[in-house]
Amino acid sequence: MLLKDKTLVVTGGNSGIGEAIVLAAAAEGANVVIDYVAHPEETESLIDRVEAAGGRAVGIEADVSRSDDLHAMVQKAVDTFGRLDVLVNNAGIETRTSLLETTEADFEKVMAINMKSAFFGSQAAAKQFISQGDGGLVINISSVHEDWPMPGNIAYCVSKGGIRMLTRTAGVELGEHGIRMVNVAPGAVSTPINASTEADPEKMKRLDAAIPLGRMAQSEEIADVVVFLASRGAGYMTSTTVTVDGGISQGSVGL
Ligand code: BGC
Repeated sequence: MLLKDKTLVVTGGNSGIGEAIVLAAAAEGANVVIDYVAHPEETESLIDRVEAAGGRAVGIEADVSRSDDLHAMVQKAVDTFGRLDVLVNNAGIETRTSLLETTEADFEKVMAINMKSAFFGSQAAAKQFISQGDGGLVINISSVHEDWPMPGNIAYCVSKGGIRMLTRTAGVELGEHGIRMVNVAPGAVSTPINASTEADPEKMKRLDAAIPLGRMAQSEEIADVVVFLASRGAGYMTSTTVTVDGGISQGSVGL
């Protein structure tokens, strides 16, 4: 088992890529802390699935856009499982609006859930790692759009660009403590964030044609990379991004 007895906090862990990360990590022997907002049902049923497979997981109500709640998630890991090994900043939203359309409220929400949460989550985790004294790892679920424009989804792109620089800079700052920072940049993945695209056959045809591998990813294909990054084999990786996109960001148009 690649993650035996390691403890992970996974923000946004009860749906989409986050849920797949929880299940994949637990299957490799990890303990997992999963947040929920107001409705614990999905998190509770996910915990049941983890436990049925022999793993250990615990839920906590948290608003990931609040630094205090991120600290509470880290503390929950320590109180329940004795320590924290990996924080996965996975929670994310998008508005699918252009610069001209995006309201101030939309912008603030995207920044708070995508970027502020990754920033203060990393801070909370790093403080815990330093007090434990034996390193640690933050994995940010970013996007190919940390570096590649997606017109009509600009606030999301800006937030992910910020996450890219968070990882590069914090990785340099924290290296002396043995703390690693790594981004995973998925392309198009079959999750609730892409539900409207998946419901539109024309859009799906265009999307599949733009992906060299010819199809969207399943969440498990992202989760397996996260498990690898949290395992011993990735121990020399920091301040960098791992792209998992079926080739979409190469931007080939073909003829
Ligand atoms: C976005 C999706 C988009 C995909 C590929 C993701 O980061 O959330 O809406 O389909 O990138 O462009």
